[in-house]
Amino acid sequence: MDLSEIYEKGKKAIKERDIGFLLDGVETEFVMRNNRAVIDRFTFRQHCIDGTSPDTRCEVLGVELSTPVIMSAMTMPIPAIVDGGLMEVGQGLKAAGSLMWTGTPIPQDLKAIAKTGVPLAANVKPLIDRKKMFQALNEIQETGIRWVGIEIDSGQGTKVKDRQMASDCTPLSFSELKKIRKTVSLPLIFKGVLSKADAIKSVDAGADGIIISNHGAHTLDYLPHPFQVMDEIVEAVKGKIVVMVDGGFRRGSDVLKGLAFGASLIGLGRPILYGLAANRGDGVREVIDQITNELVRLMSMVGANGPGNVDRAVLID
Ligand SMILES: Cc1cc2nc3c(=O)[nH]c(=O)nc-3n(C[C@H](O)[C@H](O)[C@H](O)COP(=O)(O)O)c2cc1C
Repeated sequence: MDLSEIYEKGKKAIKERDIGFLLDGVETEFVMRNNRAVIDRFTFRQHCIDGTSPDTRCEVLGVELSTPVIMSAMTMPIPAIVDGGLMEVGQGLKAAGSLMWTGTPIPQDLKAIAKTGVPLAANVKPLIDRKKMFQALNEIQETGIRWVGIEIDSGQGTKVKDRQMASDCTPLSFSELKKIRKTVSLPLIFKGVLSKADAIKSVDAGADGIIISNHGAHTLDYLPHPFQVMDEIVEAVKGKIVVMVDGGFRRGSDVLKGLAFGASLIGLGRPILYGLAANRGDGVREVIDQITNELVRLMSMVGANGPGNVDRAVLID
């Protein structure tokens, strides 16, 4: 199956289940429409004479990967798509040389997933029950995960169309983020930064990295796509912390744009679910492999030889 067939088959299979609504976006679904429209706005400055032979391998916060394309944080839909799906996703991502990132609920079997050898990260939500949140932060660090993520953008929980999903969250303060930093000895990533002000606060609170993200249209309506705010954020934090991005990335061309904006890694949410629904762990591997192959093709024609070497000037705004 090629990539568009995997997406089509996976989407159809998920829509036939009672979790199909999870593919939708918050309220008016503006964020979904805007994600695609903004990514599509940019074209490439071709530079093909002396084309490069790109190598997509990279190392980020002590983790070696074959590709800058990783999974974005998700748990809940995966076992509903395939029984035992979390292990399959782990195996698929391991085979692709990528990274797995879990979300809510925190899987009971993080240890078993980590044993597949896939580099693993796990997110924690800003639970109203702060005691439970800190307990989770402590517990996940004993499972073999490589990074800890904290969702700074889930303060009002999550919402799909008019349906409130997570409702047990409340925003984190700067001093709480500093306390979280003290609790977490692994690399700590703040997910959901969408402004220069929050990016600077993330650096000051001691984050090792940020994910510029609108949570894939599952939190607030009328949030921008990351590309609308990335130049100012990257300029403010460049060289201080690692920058990652997610939201609407579907193709190698989308990934190249993310790299050009200054991200070290690009996260995929729904495409991982489509791969799993289309062909289990192999489908997940195929999604990452095919996007990475598309990326290599493009990189060689814009004069980029590695993920860390994609110039912003590659993009025609
Ligand atoms: C069904 C579903 C569940 C998600 N669960 C979480 C979660 O538990 N924690 C989190 O930080 N993000 C969660 N996300 C958001 C993703 O991590 C990511 O930010 C988003 O999906 C990226 O956009 P994309 O789906 O267009 O690639 C979820 C997204 C989807 C579609």
